Amino acid sequence: MHQDASHKEWESAPLQWAAVDGTTNLICQKVIQETHDVKTFVFQTPKLSRFNYKAGQFVTLQLEIKGEPVSRTYTISSTPSRPYTLELTIKKVDGGKVSGWLLDNLKEGHRVVATAPAGIFNLADVDADKVLFLSAGCGITPMMSMSRWLQDTCSTVDARFIHSARSEQDIIFHNELELMAKKSSFFSADYVLEDKDGFLTQEKLQQLVPDLHSRTIFVCGPAPYMEAVKVMVAESGFNMDNYHEESFGGEMMPKKEASLVKEGEAGLSVSLQKSGKVGVVNPGDLLIDALEAQKAPVVAACRAGVCGACKVQIIDGEVESSSQMTLTPEEIEQGYVLSCCSTVKSDVAVAV
Ligand code: FES
Repeated sequence: MHQDASHKEWESAPLQWAAVDGTTNLICQKVIQETHDVKTFVFQTPKLSRFNYKAGQFVTLQLEIKGEPVSRTYTISSTPSRPYTLELTIKKVDGGKVSGWLLDNLKEGHRVVATAPAGIFNLADVDADKVLFLSAGCGITPMMSMSRWLQDTCSTVDARFIHSARSEQDIIFHNELELMAKKSSFFSADYVLEDKDGFLTQEKLQQLVPDLHSRTIFVCGPAPYMEAVKVMVAESGFNMDNYHEESFGGEMMPKKEASLVKEGEAGLSVSLQKSGKVGVVNPGDLLIDALEAQKAPVVAACRAGVCGACKVQIIDGEVESSSQMTLTPEEIEQGYVLSCCSTVKSDVAVAV
């Protein structure tokens, strides 16, 4: 059923998302067809609240498709400067069972469960006066959130936006980008269209952005695009400390049914602080498998160490992590790890 905001109790306080394993119910209020294969889903909370996140961050949706629980991470395309809605813009990808299901089935009035916004790929945590947004396809979503934020806050950050798409019809948010460029002398948008211009090259990039080296770069898009952009930017002699990228297309760690060893067998213990449960695993097992086997409240969305959804705090013991991509230095200091890419090395205690 469609929610009527006038009948809702209004909340003045921001929505409080719990830090690690918190989830919130969202109601889909509107579905906008952006291009032939992209839709924006506009969400609100049941009791109207203000969403609190940083432009560029993502949420993880916990869904049930054909009776199977699945989680997927999507970058927020709306801006925290318009806090009463949270928008996800999703493209139907070939073979993508979740994106296809969402585009075909998620309608106005439906509820979904989302985890708290997270991610270090955001504008708030980076100090820059001049930025360059480079995106391709649905990688436009964090850039759109950042651009809308800059526009709404009358920012004087000089922003150049270069978006790659298959054709003009495939440019998501085309009208809005044009409008933003008209309204602000600090913002400009250009497009690299595959059917007209081919792909983005180092030469094209230098032509479009001659002051590339004085900018902080944000990049998001499909893995081959990201790899190509990284190479061309690095080869140009760019200071890669000012290069930030977001990707949800990494190599997924295969999920194991259960990693707990049988009673009586030697192994390492994984203790859950809140529930008091203790499981025994083999050395080298993935922490996420041990946590899932014990039904710990942890979400594994990407299983590739890039989304941050599976973050947990180790209170005691040792794990070895192959990615800390979404963790801040403070979180690492406090013992947080990404459980999807951390293997158990000793008896460990986890704060879940
Ligand atoms: S599930 Fe995405 S980082 Fe672990």
